[in-house]
Amino acid sequence: MAYARAEALTRLGQRLFFDPALSASGKLACATCHDPKVGFGPPNALAVQAGGKDLQQLGLRAVPSLKYLQTVPQFSEHYFESDDEGDASIDNGPTGGLTWDGRVDRHRDQAAVPLLSPFEMANATPGDVVKRLREREYTEAFEAIFGAAVLADDSKAFAALGEALAVYQEDSRTFYPYSSKYDAYLAGRARLTPQEARGLALFEDPNKGNCASCHRSRVGNDGTPPQFTDYGLIALGLPRNPVIAANADSAFFDLGLCGPLRSDLADRAEYCGLFRTPSLRNVALRRTFFHNGLVHDLRRAVAFYVERDTEPEKWYPRNADGTVRKFDDLPRPYQTNVNQNPPLGPRPDNRPVLTAAEIDDIVAFLGTLTDGFPQNP
Ligand code: HEC
Ligand code: HEC
Repeated sequence: MAYARAEALTRLGQRLFFDPALSASGKLACATCHDPKVGFGPPNALAVQAGGKDLQQLGLRAVPSLKYLQTVPQFSEHYFESDDEGDASIDNGPTGGLTWDGRVDRHRDQAAVPLLSPFEMANATPGDVVKRLREREYTEAFEAIFGAAVLADDSKAFAALGEALAVYQEDSRTFYPYSSKYDAYLAGRARLTPQEARGLALFEDPNKGNCASCHRSRVGNDGTPPQFTDYGLIALGLPRNPVIAANADSAFFDLGLCGPLRSDLADRAEYCGLFRTPSLRNVALRRTFFHNGLVHDLRRAVAFYVERDTEPEKWYPRNADGTVRKFDDLPRPYQTNVNQNPPLGPRPDNRPVLTAAEIDDIVAFLGTLTDGFPQNP
């Protein structure tokens, strides 16, 4: 019974996810921005996608992948791992929550954000969404699951829509299949090439990439496969992206955890500039990287970590006097929030932490995190 309901909800949620008729433009489905062919990430190399009634409103952030979100913990300012996961005595600081700034805890609530955002699906109210819903060909399936009266009540219908979308996004076959070459390697069913193996070693080495300190690469104590994130919110101090329309206003800053999209922690200066560490699973399919979509090439995304502090002039604009304006997307008082742990931070003799060949190795390793590796070779 419960299983049949879950299956029916998954199928309904899938139809909703792919239905552009739920948007004010009639052209924008969840899947338009979250393309299943790209790990449910952005379908193109644009930094941000256009939405709104006329599809002319630019968003503020890059589209994240919707895969491997099932283990994202609810947002917490003081996150302690369970003994099963790691060391339960360490306060990991702000962690978890959905979206780049962790402001939504559950998938069912998250769906309201794009449905009602003026620069995404642009419905004015939940009632608007439900009006569109009533005209769809799948209302019978809707009523069969939620009861004949569900569509008569706007708030019940809107909640039901959120539930169906959430159940679809929690379907393991589609959203967390763990079918990458790396998963096959962990299970002893595949071998990494020498270059991929070097990349993995560099990724994990605390004195080299140290990537795994945030993008966890090992199976948890309780056997959970690696998610390639610890869900922590961190400031990387990325350069400002002039392509984002809102950035034309020099007084506007997307400060992540302290706002303005999120409003509950606006007075916490130490949180300004922090964004949630994304999983790196399927990252090689992406053509736009980081919260502001500044980078369009995976190798360059990795190079940022190497060059930010050794060759900042490659990344940041210069002031009139020729000095480099480092961390130009953060007002000065917040620049101390920027993470300085390896691979970031000052280096002895200003030597890059990874050579060009080592960056290539890490990129090769990241290619093993793409789902769809043949499971029975
Ligand atoms: C116009 C493009 C666009 C559309 C349409 C869209 N999204 Fe998104 N989605 C985004 C962006 C951009 C973000 C990041 C938002 C942020 O951080 O504030 C996001 C974030 C998310 C997240 C959080 C991911 C994470 O890593 O925490 C989920 C879940 C999600 N979207 C699901 C949906 C669903 C379900 C729909 C349809 C009801 C949808 N999206 C429609 C662009 C879009
Ligand atoms: C201190 C924690 C930390 C470390 C160490 C770290 N990362 Fe990240 N990584 C993040 C955070 C946080 C983001 C998102 C930042 C943002 O967009 O503002 C990110 C984003 C990325 C992205 C972009 C993903 C996307 O979907 O846009 C890539 C690629 C990446 N990291 C690779 C690496 C590699 C390779 C290393 C090691 C050389 C590494 N990271 C080390 C925290 C970390």
